Amino acid sequence: MATNETPIETYITKHQEQFLEDLKAWLRIPSISTLPEHKADVKHAAEYAIGQLQRIGMSEATLIPTNGHPLVYSEWLKAPGKPTLLIYGHYDVQPVDPIELWESAPFDPTIRNGNIYARGSSDDKGQVMVIFKALETLMAVNDTLPINIKVLLEGEEEAGGESIAHYITTTPERLGCDAAFICDTHMPAADMPALITGLRGIIYTEVEVQGATQDLHSGSYGGVAPNPLHSLAIIISRLKDEDGHIHIPGLYDKVRKPHPQEQEFWEKDPLHIKEAYLREMGVNQLSGELEYPPLERTGGRPTLEVHGISGGFVGEGAKTVIPAVAKAKISLRLPPDLKSQEVFTLFEKTVHEVAPAGVTVNVINVHGGEGIIVSPDSAPIQAASAALAEVYGKPPVFLREGGSIPIAALFDAVLHVPVVLMGFGLPDDNLHAPNEKYALSQFFNGIRTVASFVQKLAQK
Ligand code: BES
Ligand code: ZN
Repeated sequence: MATNETPIETYITKHQEQFLEDLKAWLRIPSISTLPEHKADVKHAAEYAIGQLQRIGMSEATLIPTNGHPLVYSEWLKAPGKPTLLIYGHYDVQPVDPIELWESAPFDPTIRNGNIYARGSSDDKGQVMVIFKALETLMAVNDTLPINIKVLLEGEEEAGGESIAHYITTTPERLGCDAAFICDTHMPAADMPALITGLRGIIYTEVEVQGATQDLHSGSYGGVAPNPLHSLAIIISRLKDEDGHIHIPGLYDKVRKPHPQEQEFWEKDPLHIKEAYLREMGVNQLSGELEYPPLERTGGRPTLEVHGISGGFVGEGAKTVIPAVAKAKISLRLPPDLKSQEVFTLFEKTVHEVAPAGVTVNVINVHGGEGIIVSPDSAPIQAASAALAEVYGKPPVFLREGGSIPIAALFDAVLHVPVVLMGFGLPDDNLHAPNEKYALSQFFNGIRTVASFVQKLAQK
């Protein structure tokens, strides 16, 4: 072995198996936050995180009860005069359906072709384990940490993150810091490190359409009865046309023009992300607003998606029913200048306006969160950039991602600190889908990068 290997590298190499065992044990806990029957599992996953934080040697690691799933808070503040980094992650995961499409069971973490397959491996337990192991390594090697660290984890991210939003807005003193770090994003490829400069906001809604007071026979009533399923289809088709334009008056008013440099990046697409989209989705043509480049469509434009429709008869065979009720789950992704509450108001108004006569429509605001734009110029982001360059051998690209991490905007708004969005997921990690995976190389390079990032923050 080379004699110039650093103690950090030696520790990581020596503990590889242990790191993976700890990751697997955590991934075995089915911490699905949106399903009430998994409430105890979610808590169990939080307790597992506490165990990891204690093992690192953090001064404090506690569960904070909330109205929903608990928060995990931990701190180590023994580096006077040094900056404080607040690290965020989430230990809850998405549901697993359609379960039959998983090659190995979602909560039986399995290593194949250099990847670990399990729900939460990439989003976000694997990425949080990167943080635990980076801190563990630094503490084990130096008997101390180079900066002050606060860790805040939530178990409701996939369910809208209400409790953490409440906690941050009511207890900002406790979270005082010089920078926040969120490890819940991606890189375009394993040899293309990235820092994320923007995320979209979101509103998630449910549209309920009520027709008659009960299901009806379509022979007796077809011709006079309202059909909520059909009305819902009409509403949906009026909200967005086939060219991806959303017909919600006022929606586009506040979309800010991108910086010319970003515009150029979107148009030229030097990383060939358009081809990657086609490949990853297995389609031969992209949808959406063709007059905007694909990167702008995912990063900088509002979009509207229908996630599910229910109502009527979907069993085997035939049943001639006119359903009394139909429902759709619909969300919008919002570039950072559109505020979720304002957009919900516009959305609700439009749904009522476009609904056909004869049905009653109710629009429910399930959850919402704001997007964020971060400047790449701050010292913490420069430190992250240097750490990525060191580990990956090339400087990172600066990119927006289309997903939402509402906590990022809250950190910005409430704590007024730079937010570093640095994650090690890859585009084909199958987030929220069957066969979610995390590349082991990304797991270990992530640990190296976060350890280096934390050290660099001490040197400012
Ligand atoms: N890790 C994702 C966010 C993400 C996805 C960032 C893709 C970048 C690219 C996060 O866990 C997530 O899925 N968030 C939800 C937020 C929502 C439930 C408020 C999302 O984006 O759907
Ligand atoms: Zn996530």
